[in-house]
Amino acid sequence: MTYLGIETSCDDTAVALVKNNGVVLDSRRWTRDEHHIPFGGIIPERASRNHLELLTPMIDQLLIDHSVKGSDLAGISVTSRPGLLGSLIVGTVTAKTLSLSWSVPFIGVNHLEGHVFSAWLSDSQPVDLVFPHLSLIVSGGHTHLVLIEALGSYRVLGKTRDDAAGEALDKFSNLIGMGFPGGPKIDALAKKGDPKAYEFPRPMLREKNYDFSFSGLKAAAARLLKDKNTLLDEQVKADMAASYQSAVVEVLVEKTRRALKETGAKVFTLVGGVSANSQLRAEIYQLGDELGVEVKIPELKYCTDNAAMIAYAGALRIQRGELGELDLKPRARSLAGDFID
Ligand code: KG4
Ligand code: ZN
Repeated sequence: MTYLGIETSCDDTAVALVKNNGVVLDSRRWTRDEHHIPFGGIIPERASRNHLELLTPMIDQLLIDHSVKGSDLAGISVTSRPGLLGSLIVGTVTAKTLSLSWSVPFIGVNHLEGHVFSAWLSDSQPVDLVFPHLSLIVSGGHTHLVLIEALGSYRVLGKTRDDAAGEALDKFSNLIGMGFPGGPKIDALAKKGDPKAYEFPRPMLREKNYDFSFSGLKAAAARLLKDKNTLLDEQVKADMAASYQSAVVEVLVEKTRRALKETGAKVFTLVGGVSANSQLRAEIYQLGDELGVEVKIPELKYCTDNAAMIAYAGALRIQRGELGELDLKPRARSLAGDFID
């Protein structure tokens, strides 16, 4: 039972082959960061043109390398929402066409649902999915604490009211002139800095809810930079990065701590691009040890956008009889019935 996954919701073109039990046979990604770097962010039109050029040859090569015939696949899952519309169109049209020509089922998957199940991917041994579990989804566009009760049954405990955690790191990176993509750059720079050098706010930390707000942090960084009114030397940048990242991480970890205590969840997953952050990973593992909670964080290659997570989430849905319709429309936003908007 092998499933093909296609992920083109943003700038990465990604394809994967995954077994129905979450074992990944292969996961490939092509990013043309060089097209976006000069602009400090992703240019949607460029991203969709890149998908158009790259996607079909990548699928072709993937199947050839694994001696898999398209018609032997158990299904095709494709990200159909949320994301950049032009990019999603390329993926969904490709999936529908392949589904028709190979006579295999396909399904459109919510990108965030893909992230949620990325924690259960494995390159070797199948891992048993456990329900319920608590999940913190931290990506470039989302920061959500969600109780995952079953496939398709999700209770959002809290989410960001403005910027996502990844967005806060990306914007800060642009502010100090480090540019795009910000998260990994701040992660590396922060290792050389003093996290106590500058005081950044911990937004909504003490509020008795699970919501987040990160836009004030960026504003605080902008004020600090204006006050300094000088060119930043490398050590100042590193100290600022360490202090800023610590503020983001502390809020995420403390809200998670409260949610774990209050829900009594015994299993916790940290997913989405920001789950690649080394400080966040370390502090979440430590929190799990403290509370006796099993923590699952994807391997680094499955934290940021990838097609293996889409293949797996789609496989779970196809296996319980759900099928995509040929009139499936890609959408920039989630659907009303999805758990995340
Ligand atoms: O999940 P993802 O690849 O794409 C979205 O669905 O948004 O997440 C991208 C986000 C970006 O904001 C990026 O800066 C952040 O993940 N990111 C990181 C790291 N690697 C990627 N943030 C912090 N530390 C990292 N090592
Ligand atoms: Zn993502």
